[in-house]
Amino acid sequence: MNLSVEGARLFPGYFSSEARRALLADVLARIEAAPFYTPTMPRSGAPLSTRTTNLGPLGWVTDIAGYRYQAEHPHTGATWPAMPRTLLDLWRDLADYPAPPEACLVNWYGPASRLGLHVDQDEEAVNAPVVSVSLGDDALFRLGGQSRRDPTHSFRLHSGDVVVLAGVSRRCFHGVDRIYPGTSQLVPGGGRINLTMRRVNWP
Ligand code: SIN
Ligand code: MN
Repeated sequence: MNLSVEGARLFPGYFSSEARRALLADVLARIEAAPFYTPTMPRSGAPLSTRTTNLGPLGWVTDIAGYRYQAEHPHTGATWPAMPRTLLDLWRDLADYPAPPEACLVNWYGPASRLGLHVDQDEEAVNAPVVSVSLGDDALFRLGGQSRRDPTHSFRLHSGDVVVLAGVSRRCFHGVDRIYPGTSQLVPGGGRINLTMRRVNWP
């Protein structure tokens, strides 16, 4: 399904309920070695409302020093666990890009978590899409244009949905306005887990 901006596509229910359970179990087993932590904003050091970790050769990290990709978990110092095959297959299916993703950001959203409007722009491979999987509680996703002042459209993401931001939409503002607590029983303890895959370096 095409969204409001060129290159933005939504695949509702890409993962069946069984596939969601298997993918989440795989991710949770892998991140036992790379536990969720609370990221902080550049300069202010203010905490984000999501908890975060990564899978893959690189992870996206934010702290008082800024945004960056790095190979190590900032708290344990260990390299990030590998990405599940299911996610690499998903990328091959939908990304239309000649190289695999290098980073999978794993964000946990609680009942009050949100993610302000932003553009993903810490990657060199700006022509590679962003592919993102929603698991657990529903979320209200907002997609705008290339300027922060452009009009935005909001739509609800459900567990198992996949969003691809390619083309023009790859450079567009987006964020998560709210979570709908209790709309899914998938995530142990509740909440939403978003898996966002990105290519960082040129192939
Ligand atoms: C992101 O923009 O990094 C995450 C989007 C989402 O949680 O759906
Ligand atoms: Mn983003």
